[in-house]
Amino acid sequence: MHRSFSDRLLAWFDVHGRHDLPWQHPRDPYRVWLAEIMLQQTQVVTVIPYFERFLLRFPDVATLASAPLDDVLALWAGLGYYARARNLHRCAKVLVSDFGGRFPRSLQQAMDLPGLGRSTAAAVLAQAYGERHAILDGNVRRVLSRHALIAGWPGHPAVQTQLWHIAEAQLPRQRLADYTQALMDLGATLCTRHAPECSRCPVANDCKAYQRGVTAAYPEARPRRQRPLRVSRLLLLVHGDDDQLLLERRAPVGIWGGLWSPPMLEGGESPSEPEWCHSRQLTPLGDVESLPEVSHAFTHFDLRIHPRRLRVSRLDAVRESDQWRWVTIRDLSDLGLPAPVRKLLMNLAG
Ligand code: ADE
Repeated sequence: MHRSFSDRLLAWFDVHGRHDLPWQHPRDPYRVWLAEIMLQQTQVVTVIPYFERFLLRFPDVATLASAPLDDVLALWAGLGYYARARNLHRCAKVLVSDFGGRFPRSLQQAMDLPGLGRSTAAAVLAQAYGERHAILDGNVRRVLSRHALIAGWPGHPAVQTQLWHIAEAQLPRQRLADYTQALMDLGATLCTRHAPECSRCPVANDCKAYQRGVTAAYPEARPRRQRPLRVSRLLLLVHGDDDQLLLERRAPVGIWGGLWSPPMLEGGESPSEPEWCHSRQLTPLGDVESLPEVSHAFTHFDLRIHPRRLRVSRLDAVRESDQWRWVTIRDLSDLGLPAPVRKLLMNLAG
């Protein structure tokens, strides 16, 4: 029988964990809170000098609360995500006005403070007071999803719920401050995103992802967003014995801005092809012929193009101009056409 997850992690932490981080000496609530806010989007090595400068200028919560916001922002400059600094300042004022300057011990009260989510609140309470609360930041999600082989993207609410349950189930009875730091250290140093060092990991022997050789597949990536579908008709208006085709210069903005293309009717509300022709004084000759559709993937949507061919009598109304051209297939190579449209036309020409 293995020793528990937390026992092995703590034993590893005693030897290999980080014990000289400035917020560990002393681990008082003000320092731990400040560190955890700075560490939310920033790495330890970057945070340390900011943390030390910040404490020199604002040694306690009362000093921070009574300082002008500009002074706080000035010392934050370079750390990024300045909403953190504004929330920190607001939070200091709340701590002074509502909590007598003492960081609350209750998880719910801590979570209600500006700038603290559940994981940050738990990290502060565990490290500052030894309270028994689970954390779940990006590193911990990675460790736990591998160890317990939790499928699905950890940002998904159902997956997140599973991970919180596991995080709570693994909590030790004692040494919550060390355990919290140990879990973060494991994620930051061994159980890394790429090339985790499983041979040195204290919990590898019952890590399900490791046993199956699939650590690289966990945690699962965010699912690719299903791109919306746009449907367009491409009007292939053909004239004459040499099958001249009407091209339009597309508007300068939007997809394929400024390129030449057969007229494109977007969406379902456009006029029928004969209506479109009549409004431009082209006379349809015969029926509309539907040709096989083609699809094209843009970054933000998929475009499905329905080519619709219609023979027309060419009146002078649609004159050759900067806007309109009548071309044969042979002329196409001289014009700037969107690649999928060119391909489609070439295929139709055989
Ligand atoms: N990231 C968030 N909190 C941390 C901590 N206490 N140590 C290292 N990385 C962290």
